[in-house]
Amino acid sequence: MTLLLDVRDVTKRYGGVVANDAVSLQVREGEIAGLIGPNGSGKTTLFGAITGAYPVDGGDVIFNGASISHLRVGPIVRQGLARTYQQTRIYGEMTCMENMQISSRASQGNVMSLLRLKARGAQTRAEDLLSFVGLHEKRFEYGGRLSFGQQKLLEFAMALMSEPKLLLLDEPTAGINPTLINGLIDRLQRANKELGVTLLVIEHNMRVIMNLAEHITCLAHGRVLASGTPDEVRNDPRVLDAYLGAQ
Ligand SMILES: Nc1ncnc2c1ncn2[C@@H]1O[C@H](COP(=O)(O)OP(=O)(O)O)[C@@H](O)[C@H]1O
Ligand SMILES: [Mg+2]
Repeated sequence: MTLLLDVRDVTKRYGGVVANDAVSLQVREGEIAGLIGPNGSGKTTLFGAITGAYPVDGGDVIFNGASISHLRVGPIVRQGLARTYQQTRIYGEMTCMENMQISSRASQGNVMSLLRLKARGAQTRAEDLLSFVGLHEKRFEYGGRLSFGQQKLLEFAMALMSEPKLLLLDEPTAGINPTLINGLIDRLQRANKELGVTLLVIEHNMRVIMNLAEHITCLAHGRVLASGTPDEVRNDPRVLDAYLGAQ
């Protein structure tokens, strides 16, 4: 399979803290890949490094065959690489439709001007994606009035507005009622199979990620500890140690 994302020895420091220490990881086109590791192991930092949130201190990120490590967020999104956040970024005082429109405009690098425009082209796609995540009937509801789980679904739909080739999801099930988690997993799998979006998912719930991902990378203390199939990673004593040691 073709490599869609190739992270090569990425290093990111916050002052004296080395949050990513020569991290390498690959995501193949069409797969669902997982990224796990104890709290503070550098998972969210790696997402920021990949998506251009800040310059990296070392290494390179190759997306779709070209280096993107010198680019910032806007141009990277336009190349087809989007992300969601551990803390959802929903504009609470705006309706679901307005949130969707903001995200499509954000991928063009101009967030707020959208509110003065109709963005007709994006309207149909926004409605389709709200249906896809089961929020169509909430389209005129204020984002801030949605439940936490519904906000996560809205954020997922917002990320799909830019028609990403690769979507990075940062703990999509965190804080979601266990009975709603299966519905979300089903949406992730359908986005992968039906919309053709390759996924890299940070997930703290082991049951979820072991069932979802074909290939998993585990970080600990900013470094890659293990990488392989769910079975290989689950049975790796270093991974068990890292999690038990973090309790
Ligand atoms: N903005 C920041 N400034 C300083 N240190 C940070 C910042 N963000 C994260 N860190 C530190 O970097 C390390 C990795 O954090 P993070 O990437 O959030 O880990 P994870 O997502 O795996 O929980 C931690 O030690 C954390 O305290
Ligand atoms: Mg995190």
